[in-house]
Formats: sequence, structure tokens, C-alpha cells
Amino acid sequence: MPFKTIEWKNNTVRLLDQTLLPNEVKYLPIADEKAMWEAIRMLRVRGAPAIGVAAAYGLYVGVARTKPKNLKAFKRTVEKVAAYLATSRPTAVNLFWALKRCVNVASLMCEDTTVSAAHAELLAEAKRIHAEDFQTCELIGAHGAPLLTGCNGVITHCNTGALATAGMGTALAVILKAAEKTCFTVFADETRPLLQGARLTAWELQQAGVETRLICDNMAGSVMKRGMVQAAIVGADRIAANGDAANKVGTMPLAIVCQFYKVPFYVAAPLSTFDLKLKSGDEIPIEERSAEEITTFGGRSVAPRGTQVFAPAFDVTPAKLIAGIVTEVGVLRPPYKRSIAAAFHRKGRS
Ligand code: MRU
Repeated sequence: MPFKTIEWKNNTVRLLDQTLLPNEVKYLPIADEKAMWEAIRMLRVRGAPAIGVAAAYGLYVGVARTKPKNLKAFKRTVEKVAAYLATSRPTAVNLFWALKRCVNVASLMCEDTTVSAAHAELLAEAKRIHAEDFQTCELIGAHGAPLLTGCNGVITHCNTGALATAGMGTALAVILKAAEKTCFTVFADETRPLLQGARLTAWELQQAGVETRLICDNMAGSVMKRGMVQAAIVGADRIAANGDAANKVGTMPLAIVCQFYKVPFYVAAPLSTFDLKLKSGDEIPIEERSAEEITTFGGRSVAPRGTQVFAPAFDVTPAKLIAGIVTEVGVLRPPYKRSIAAAFHRKGRS
């Protein structure tokens, strides 16, 4: 990819500010945890895996800034800054997963560790999370690509590419790997209200040279009725133990339309997006965003002043609508309770 979504360079973390895309490519240096919190909250960095990587670096820069005097103070600061960053967005479990990994690293440091060694270890963990996500994306792409063999058209929702991860993406990695062998058109939902499909997915696919048609979210049915797509593939922000998957709002209606037209609907996500503590999708916390994200468009009002709004950022697709979940350890198939448990068992052993 000709851009880096998150970059650790010259002892600083830099983010590609996604709110400015596709019109401006601008990198934002992040000085402390407050700046990282704001960047995650405002979707300057977004997409479940990318949020996790960003939070890990945010934790490091936040702790380094406070310069704790001894290891005890260091561990306390790590917990405090992690708890603060965890309030930035509620749905993508990768945020909590990455922060927990870093907090664990800090809590396991033995008594004689110096504060500077402890800092270095915290940064090393952030870099490991970053590098692992890169590899995970490659594996997801490779496992999922055969699912799209023979397709003339594939539909996707939101943005699941390099901008949403530290690698080539999740669902978009599957699409890109498949596009190396099969020629198909990608139908990209624009993804109201913040247009991650139009601004980000279309931008990424254009750079990759993949034929793309941008559609409004409510056109998916028309595309399927005309037989223009043979598969749908999307990402996820949190997947429960039974396979119910939360993703950008609009995903669940897309899955329902797919079922009606008998188009297989796939989800692609790393194991870090699964939350096995949750039995079903009913338990997934769904972020609600501000009314302005719906009542305005491009900075202009599109609804009368004072209009009441309901603005869930995600919805949950029931497992029974999902034909397969592509992960770094392979494609999981229904019944998901069993295949998900087996995947974690395998991963634990490797
Ligand atoms: O609100 P966003 O842009 O962070 O939502 C992103 C999504 O819903 C993605 O589909 C999901 O995080 C998977 S990203 C590989």
C-alpha cells in the first residue's frame, strides 16, 4: 500500500487522518493519550484492528509522558491510561484486547525491572501487536480468496482495508487477494452516515486498480436482483461466541437482502475481534454517535434544526445469516459455537 495508516517513526506515533480522505493525505503526530483518545473517538483512526494498534501506541506515549518515578507508579499509570483510552469507543473489542495485552505485560514485570526497561517493554508490545496484525491480514486474505473464485461481482460495506488495519485489511484483503486471480467488480456501499465506503474503500480500491462501483447503501437490493454479485464480504467489530457479528450499521440489512437473493454472506475478522465472554450478539455494546453526523452532510444541515435522531454506529448480523467467517486460522463454518471454540483451541496450541 502506498500509505501507512499507523506509523511508529522517530519515537513518535503518526496516524493518517482518515477524516480528511480522500481529499487530503495528512499525517497527524500523536503526542499523548488525550490526542490518541480524540483521534479514535473522531474516527481519524478507525476500523477495529487499527483502533487496537493505535490504542497500544497511545498507551505507551501517555505513560512515557507522565514519567513515573518507580515501577509501582509505572504500573499504576499504565492501568490508569489504559482505562482512559478504553472509553474512546465501545464496540470494537480489539481496543480492549490490545490494551489488556499491554496492561498484562506491565503487570507481569518483576520487581527489579527499571522504569526505562518497563517503558521499552510496553513499546515492544505495541510494536508486536502492530506486526502481528500485518501478518494476520495476509493470512485472512489467503484463506478467504478462494471463496470469491468465479464471482463476477462482490459487494462490501464500510471500509475493511489497509486503512482499518495494520496490514492489507480483513474483508478487503480477501477481495484484493482474490482479484489477483479472478476479474470481478466490487460494489462498495457508500456507508452512511460517515461514508467510509465512498471516502475510504473506493480510494483504496482505486489505488489497487480493482474495478469498483460505488453504490448508496439502499441500492444493494437492486444490485442483487439484477444478479450483479455472487458474494458479499464484510468485516466485524466484535463477534460473540455464537457467531453473531457486530459491524458498521447497515451490515445486518445487507445480510438479510443476501439471504433473500441467495447470495452467500461472509464475514472476515481476526481472532482478536472475537469476544468469547459474550454468548450472543445481544450482549455486544453498540455505540451511538452524535445527531450531527446524521443531520449534516459535508458541513451543511440536511434536516430541520432540532430534529431528533437515532444514531447507532453498528448493528449485529445474526450468525444464521453468515455463510462463513474468515480468520487467520481458516474459514469457520456453522455451527459457529463449535467452530469458534475449536479455532481458539487450535490457536492456543500453536
Ligand atoms: O466506525 P468505524 O469506521 O470504525 O467502523 C468500522 C467497521 O465497521 C469495519 O467494518 C470493522 O471495524 C472491520 S475493519 C477491518
